[in-house]
Amino acid sequence: MKKILCGALVLLILAGIVLAQIVSPNGKEEKTLKILVVYYSHSGNTREIANMLKDLTGGDIFEIQTTAPYPAEYNAIVKQVKKEKNSGIKPQIKNGFAGSQNYDLVFLGSPCWFGTIATPVETFLSRQDFSGKTIVPFVTSGGSGLGSIERDISVLQPSANVAPGRAFNRSSVKSTQKEIADWLASSLRQAR
Ligand SMILES: Cc1cc2nc3c(=O)[nH]c(=O)nc-3n(C[C@H](O)[C@H](O)[C@H](O)COP(=O)(O)O)c2cc1C
Repeated sequence: MKKILCGALVLLILAGIVLAQIVSPNGKEEKTLKILVVYYSHSGNTREIANMLKDLTGGDIFEIQTTAPYPAEYNAIVKQVKKEKNSGIKPQIKNGFAGSQNYDLVFLGSPCWFGTIATPVETFLSRQDFSGKTIVPFVTSGGSGLGSIERDISVLQPSANVAPGRAFNRSSVKSTQKEIADWLASSLRQAR
């Protein structure tokens, strides 16, 4: 319980820092950015980062979900995704998101799957139009980092501004609040 309360306190302090920067960095009046955090997560790591970003920005959050869940077991999902990739078949995702033009800044989260975004995120991007919007990618991975994620998002959203992304190692997602707050502050500065 003590640990949870300490974690919540750290998050609140960091949220205060970041929100203050949104409202008035250097005392200047800034435009309020409409922020969306959209993500896919199979085993929960990317969801952790997405929820921290939502708490820090006060933005909206949307979870991409497949209509048929992937197997939970690692070897089974790897086999299925490989099969999908070889056949070029994209997984179906649940509908429910129709607001791509309502946002200025989109944090797009995905697990790294074979060096790029997860296939449900590909399906999502191929159905949306983020023209003129800034997309900031973030991934969690077992260590290979961003891979070709920025370039692959640009191919699917050629008229969006794809900002430099950020990779988080899955072994440290729970201890990255400070890193996320710093990265977020710099992403917000770039988006203005
Ligand atoms: C199908 C599949 C492919 C993966 N490919 C990679 C990879 O290329 N590089 C890597 O570092 N990790 C890879 N991973 C590990 C995931 O990126 C990592 O566990 C991630 O944090 C999972 O995020 P999630 O919990 O949000 O689903 C892969 C995992 C799966 C299931």
